[in-house]
Order: sequence, then structure tokens, then C-alpha cells
Amino acid sequence: MPAELSPIDTAKFVAAKRAVQFIESGMKVGLGTGSTAAWMVRCLAERIRDEGLKVVGVPTSTRTAELARQLGIPITSLDDAKWLDLTIDGADEFDVNLALIKGGGAALLQEKIVATASDQMIVIADAAKEVSQLGNFPLPVEIIPFGWQTTKALIEETLVSLDVLNRDTSIRMNSDKPLITDEANYILDLHLKRIGNPRQLALVLNQIPGVVENGLFIDICDIVVIGHGDGRVTVRDINAGSQAEDQVYFKPTDNIFADLGD
Ligand code: A5P
Repeated sequence: MPAELSPIDTAKFVAAKRAVQFIESGMKVGLGTGSTAAWMVRCLAERIRDEGLKVVGVPTSTRTAELARQLGIPITSLDDAKWLDLTIDGADEFDVNLALIKGGGAALLQEKIVATASDQMIVIADAAKEVSQLGNFPLPVEIIPFGWQTTKALIEETLVSLDVLNRDTSIRMNSDKPLITDEANYILDLHLKRIGNPRQLALVLNQIPGVVENGLFIDICDIVVIGHGDGRVTVRDINAGSQAEDQVYFKPTDNIFADLGD
């Protein structure tokens, strides 16, 4: 167990801790993927243990499913749950409209399906994820392995007529082989530097044969909970047009820090 959480882990943890307060007994909850979402899974497990909260989770990756199982969170498939009350997930970037780039952890496809099948999506993020314009973080695009080099070339050609600053792309690797997603696809990262029109880009990318889904989440996220390294959180609600500041208090000796595995 670490003696003290780093400011970045504190930020992720407090965002997660605040976000799980939105979960109520009886809810079906989408469980995101990534290091911030892993904190949320731990915080949810703590509420189930301490408060007897009755929920069922729908994981967005095999990694999250494994963590939820280890921590005793009841989980099911999306097909079984059908529709969810809430999804809580991390993001790689978010802008003022709560448009997101996701997929840094290669789980964007299941994440988008699950978030879209939810009444509400809450994003949890440290403050560094907020940007004035999306695109500095490479945009992940899930593509099928068949003919992937042709799909890559088509994407690069399509980018010429779009409002982006850079057009380099790279296939995501896992040591010396392309990384394989949970749905047995590849990830192509688009190093665009700046995305002038995220909505247009998202639509155009999905029309290219071979593209399964892209990591732009537009009009999906409702609330962002931003964590800060000093334990403060900012809760921004795009529908209500509101923003509230809060402080999350915790003891570094809490049980929750004992199972830090990733
Ligand atoms: C997983 O595919 C991603 O969409 C993650 O939600 C995103 O990369 C954020 O991850 P971290 O919380 O680890 O930064």
C-alpha cells in the first residue's frame, strides 16, 4: 500500500469517489475502463460493502469485468441488462461541450455502446484532461483486421478534406504485433493535433468501410466530475448548465487503497 497517493491518483480517486455518489440502489450501472474507472469500481465496491447498495454492473472490457468480479460487484452483460440507468467512465480529453476523446485503453467500442445505452453518462477525469479543442490526444479508431492497411490509407485520404492539423496515423502495437481489442479488432491512432469539427469527423470516419467505431463521443456525456490533486472536485452538468465545487475527504489508510493492483 502506498504511503501517500500522488496528486494525479488523488485527482482520479476523488473524481471517482464523488461520481459513485450518483449511484442509487436498484440501478444498472455501466462500468468504464481505464485507471480512473478502476478507482470508480473500487469506490463502488466500497459502497456495496459498507452500505449494502444493491446494483448490477455492466463492464466495458474484460479488464473491468475481472476487477469487478474480484471486488464482489455483481455484473451482467448488456444484452441481459438491456438499458442502463447510468454509466461512469474515464476519458482521454473533454471539451467545453463535454465532447470526448476515448479509447486510450482500447475499449472505445464497448464503452460507446454501453454509454449510449444509458440514461446518463458521467465522465470522471483529472483536470489535465480538459482541453479548449480536442485532438492533441491521438484519436483511436477501431478497425477490422481484414484489409487494415487499405482502411488506414482510406482514412488518411479522407482526412485531407477535413479540418485537422496533422494527418499521421499509426496502428497500435502490443510488443511486435498489432494490439487486439476485446472485439478482436485493431486500433488505428490518428495523430491529428487539433480537431476543428469533431461532429463531422466522427460521422465521416464511420462511413469508411473497415471502420467499426471511432473514439469521439459527441452528445453522449451529461456530467463531468473533475478531480484535483488537493482533493477538490468540480461537478459540471451540461444539461443543467451548472457547475459546483466540492471537497472529498478520505484517509490514506482506507481499505480501498489496499487492493491497488494496476
Ligand atoms: C479506455 O478505452 C479509455 O476510453 C479510457 O476511459 C480513457 O483512456 C481514460 O483512461 P485513464 O482513466 O486511464 O486516463
